[in-house]
Amino acid sequence: MDVLLGLQWGDEGKGKIVDVLAPEYELVARFQGGPNAGHTLEFDGIKHVLHQIPSGIFRSNILNIVGNGVVLDPIIFKKEIEGLGKFEIDYQKNLVISKKATIIIPSHKLLDAAYEKAKGDKKIGSTLKGIGPTYQDKIGRSALRVGDILSPEFDEKYNALVAKHKTILSFYDYPTDELEGMEDQFFEALEFLKTLNLIDSEYAVNEALDADKRILAEGAQGSLLDVDFGSYPFVTSSTTMTAGACTGLGVAPSKIGEVFGIFKAYCTRVGSGPFPTELFDNDGEDMRKEGNEFGSTTGRPRRCGWLDLPALRYSIMINGVTQLFMMKADVLNIFEEIKVCTHYELPNGERIDKLSFEVMQSEAKPVYETLKGWNCSLKGIRDYEKFPQELNAYVEFLEKELNVPIKLVSIGPDREQTIMR
Ligand code: GDP
Ligand code: IMO
Ligand code: MG
Repeated sequence: MDVLLGLQWGDEGKGKIVDVLAPEYELVARFQGGPNAGHTLEFDGIKHVLHQIPSGIFRSNILNIVGNGVVLDPIIFKKEIEGLGKFEIDYQKNLVISKKATIIIPSHKLLDAAYEKAKGDKKIGSTLKGIGPTYQDKIGRSALRVGDILSPEFDEKYNALVAKHKTILSFYDYPTDELEGMEDQFFEALEFLKTLNLIDSEYAVNEALDADKRILAEGAQGSLLDVDFGSYPFVTSSTTMTAGACTGLGVAPSKIGEVFGIFKAYCTRVGSGPFPTELFDNDGEDMRKEGNEFGSTTGRPRRCGWLDLPALRYSIMINGVTQLFMMKADVLNIFEEIKVCTHYELPNGERIDKLSFEVMQSEAKPVYETLKGWNCSLKGIRDYEKFPQELNAYVEFLEKELNVPIKLVSIGPDREQTIMR
């Protein structure tokens, strides 16, 4: 099983690349996260954003798996499938859902909002999809799982969980008036969910591996949002790294093959939290405009900045990345000079090149190396030998610094704008 994941703060272009690589695989599986993800695919002039459905769904010979590590919102899932109506996808053949995936219930979304409100200006900037509260209930051993919806005791379990949530919400003095309307949609969506293939996906995955079928595990979010290794507490609530693919699908670590690490040629982040190379000047504004850096899930403007090598090296280390894919190189076309952060300077003047606990807690200042930009369009290029010399120099500089080969460079959102090296 190969794993593809984001090495930064999410939105690196995972959806595009899963779709590009999918023909080489027989299964594509999501292993964590939920509707906080927004994975964009563009082909044949159509743009589509997927939230919970794996990005192999547009390839008719691929089995797409929603793994046990995912938190699933049935309302959003139903809407997503309805939104794909025009593609004539065979959901019975091409999609299965783990019975052990956790269900996001409506009151989880209210809790998410209540917790964020209580944090005031220390808020995480959550997508408010109920991700944190649902994983809390999973770890707290009181969550509902997809398999539960088939049980006659479901209503009883549901009511117990909602009662607990209402107690917490009243403690936070958070209104619950919306809940009734949300519940109508929720129960309707559960009936829809029951019509899909709900399975013990760990068997499907391992039987496929035994039959030498190729599986691509599709990460959501990014390593710097990982609950252990990200910029805690400004993270998501799941394990976004390679190890998460093992627990989120039921696959042994020894079965992991290639680990594809995706990064943008610069950095973005949406939501709060440290971002050492963030730009507050015109360069940042230009990057946002050129890269159309607005959230795929919430529409929020993404914070933009230069590439951060210590952070990238850290992500490569914790994930065991074997191949790097550099995305959105075309967005840097507009710059005469490109900066890359090689070190941080701590408030006490100390220079370090590690993403230490202190760097994420303090106002670490980036130390940059400046490279010459290519400053021209990459339109129509289909071969890396046709890249402007400065772009090749940028790629080679990064390879040397990161010590992992950059095997793919993406120069536009479409499937076709993907250059293999
Ligand atoms: P994901 O969450 O990692 O799947 O990424 P998102 O879909 O949230 O954000 C990536 C955005 O960049 C999407 O709008 C993509 O269509 C777009 N994109 C992907 N690759 C490229 C690229 O090489 N160049 C440009 N300009 N846009 C890209
Ligand atoms: P994809 O898969 C970018 C961010 C949120 C917030 C923090 C916690 O599209 O790359 P959560 O809703 O999980 O409680 O939010 O994580 N975040 C993402 N940022 N891309 C994502 O997913 C994200 N999913 C969550 O903005 O800062
Ligand atoms: Mg995204």
